[in-house]
Amino acid sequence: MALWCALLGLLGLLVTDQANGSVLDMCMDAKHHKTKPGPEDSLHGQCHLWKNHACCTANTSQEAHKDESYLYGFNWNHCGAMPEKCKKHFIQDTCLYECSPNLGPWIDTVDSSWRKERILNVPLCKEDCEQWWEDCQDHMTCKENWHKGWNWTTVINRCPRGAMCQKMKYVFPRPADLCEKIWSNSYKYTLHHRGSGRCIQMWFDPVQGNPNVAVARYYAAGAATAPLPWTFLLLLSPAFLSLL
Ligand SMILES: *[C@@H]1O[C@H](CO)[C@@H](O)[C@H](O)[C@H]1NC(C)=O
Ligand SMILES: *[C@@H]1O[C@H](CO)[C@@H](O)[C@H](O)[C@H]1NC(C)=O
Repeated sequence: MALWCALLGLLGLLVTDQANGSVLDMCMDAKHHKTKPGPEDSLHGQCHLWKNHACCTANTSQEAHKDESYLYGFNWNHCGAMPEKCKKHFIQDTCLYECSPNLGPWIDTVDSSWRKERILNVPLCKEDCEQWWEDCQDHMTCKENWHKGWNWTTVINRCPRGAMCQKMKYVFPRPADLCEKIWSNSYKYTLHHRGSGRCIQMWFDPVQGNPNVAVARYYAAGAATAPLPWTFLLLLSPAFLSLL
């Protein structure tokens, strides 16, 4: 009986793992992502955090650091030159988006000419969002949503007629406004702290490993199989008791 229970429990665990396995380590189907994550020894600059296991190529990581890069031709300097202290957050945001294999739980399909999937409501750590806002608040922009509404009649995106350049702290009064609105809710501002295992970190120390692996696992388990841990515990406890 005990053995039977233990086997059932184990089976439950295996099924859970398989169901979640796919979203736990994957690359989205978008413009520049690899089909599967893997090692990339020469990831450039700020993207190097993901070099052990990445969805981006070395080329993508280099382009992520350029203005009007081959990636999206996006012009960061649409209201004057973006200062380095602000730009580094946009570079990191690009690295996370292009390189992270841990965004599976927040991948959503999208009807768009240039990608089949996007990220939606990725729970960003409070500090990462607030520092981004802090370092960019005095830089200017003319738009709240940077995904759409630009004037693309020339090669680069420009402010549409009538959109005034103003400091980002007026366009985005709170850090949450910046992180959530700029990319059409790709991120969700959270009150979770860096290191809590409950939010995705845009920045981390790769020497300690990638903290987002555990975060993806936490949210994948919560969403897909909420009742399972209970069943599992119930099945396992008599088994364990009889083994002791
Ligand atoms: C990346 O690849 C594209 C397309 O092949 C190329 O145009 C671009 O110059 C490459 N960038 C770098 C930094 O090698
Ligand atoms: C877009 O830019 C072009 C060239 O600068 C300009 O002639 C046109 O009026 C602009 N359109 C809008 C909607 O801003």
